[in-house]
Amino acid sequence: MSVPANLNIVPFISVENMMDLVVATGVERFLVELAGYIEDDFRRWESFDKIPRVASHSRDGVIELMPTSDGTLYGFKYVNGHPKNTNSGLQTVTAFGVLSDVESGYPLLLSEMTILTALRTAATSAIAAKYLARKEARTMALIGNGAQSEFQALAFKSLLGIDRLRLYDIDPGATARCRRNLERFGFDIETCISAEQAVETADIITTATADKHNATILTDNMIGPGVHINGVGGDCPGKTEMHRDVLLRADIFVEFPPQTRVEGEIQQLSFDHPVTELWQVITGEKMGRSSEKQITLFDSVGFAIEDFSALRYVRDRVSGSTSINQLDLLADPDEPRDLFGMLLRRQALLASAC
Ligand SMILES: NC(=O)c1ccc[n+]([C@@H]2O[C@H](COP(=O)([O-])OP(=O)(O)OC[C@H]3O[C@@H](n4cnc5c(N)ncnc54)[C@H](O)[C@@H]3O)[C@@H](O)[C@H]2O)c1
Repeated sequence: MSVPANLNIVPFISVENMMDLVVATGVERFLVELAGYIEDDFRRWESFDKIPRVASHSRDGVIELMPTSDGTLYGFKYVNGHPKNTNSGLQTVTAFGVLSDVESGYPLLLSEMTILTALRTAATSAIAAKYLARKEARTMALIGNGAQSEFQALAFKSLLGIDRLRLYDIDPGATARCRRNLERFGFDIETCISAEQAVETADIITTATADKHNATILTDNMIGPGVHINGVGGDCPGKTEMHRDVLLRADIFVEFPPQTRVEGEIQQLSFDHPVTELWQVITGEKMGRSSEKQITLFDSVGFAIEDFSALRYVRDRVSGSTSINQLDLLADPDEPRDLFGMLLRRQALLASAC
């Protein structure tokens, strides 16, 4: 891995660059290709450095750093989660991230990751469902129709062929917007007036609500045999979406147990409650769905390797592109140890310009 010729420059994927890339690719193709990168990295799970993300909790939210490395590349993401933000016109989740060259330590790419997080979360959910949902699944209940929702719907459509949606949100405006945004993608969409109604006839239930407390979006009586649950919104200590009894009836699949046991739905269970790691299902070491009647739960919290894969995918896609921004991010003195001299030369240049 080499660093760029202009050592001060780091390619920067702005929000506009990211939107242009997604639009030019087509969101469904983007999700499928991104899922391919994530699945490839899950297959080589053991070659990564792994730690639970570093979380700074406050009254209204959390700010997290999510690092990982495969020994050649290093990546990290900065991400926040503030459910109250939408009340004041801000987003619940925003993010940016960096991919670096391990050999030199130099950043290779700085990227917006708010859009990319929604894409990678949805792609990871759909990968899990590919192994865990019943093969004939066609209908998904989508509870919580905020920023993540359309991405989830499209990932399930492009990776699993889900084409019937049952939408519910406590805010009918959110559901109306989600429905409007998805209309052109060929779904058969039903708007529901309760979570109970939304889960009726659903093969897959996705929960992507945001509330900073232990919510009970799903109760045991709502879950029929054979259902796959994709729990996205329970991702912080004290922030869950389903009743403990749902967990006790389900076979539970997770990303990285040391992180999920603190942040996921399973924070409600004992620390030794059996769970299966998704990467082991993908490699074939462990079984995914084992019967038609089994209830499966992907207790998604979001793990650093998914962001690493997403940054790797974007870097490959924009490599050689002249349309992305170039950031003057790294100090690059003519002689590496003359950092101060570089400052003096700048001072002289500014003085001569006066
Ligand atoms: N697992 C992951 O990898 C991952 C990644 C990104 C976001 N998230 C989480 O997913 C959740 C959704 O994120 P977002 O960016 O879409 O948030 P958002 O604020 O844009 O949308 C959340 C929606 O949930 C709705 N809602 C809240 N309580 C509800 C309830 N009881 N029943 C039905 N709907 C309810 C809100 O009205 C809102 O429309 C958040 O909790 C976020 O932290 C998880």
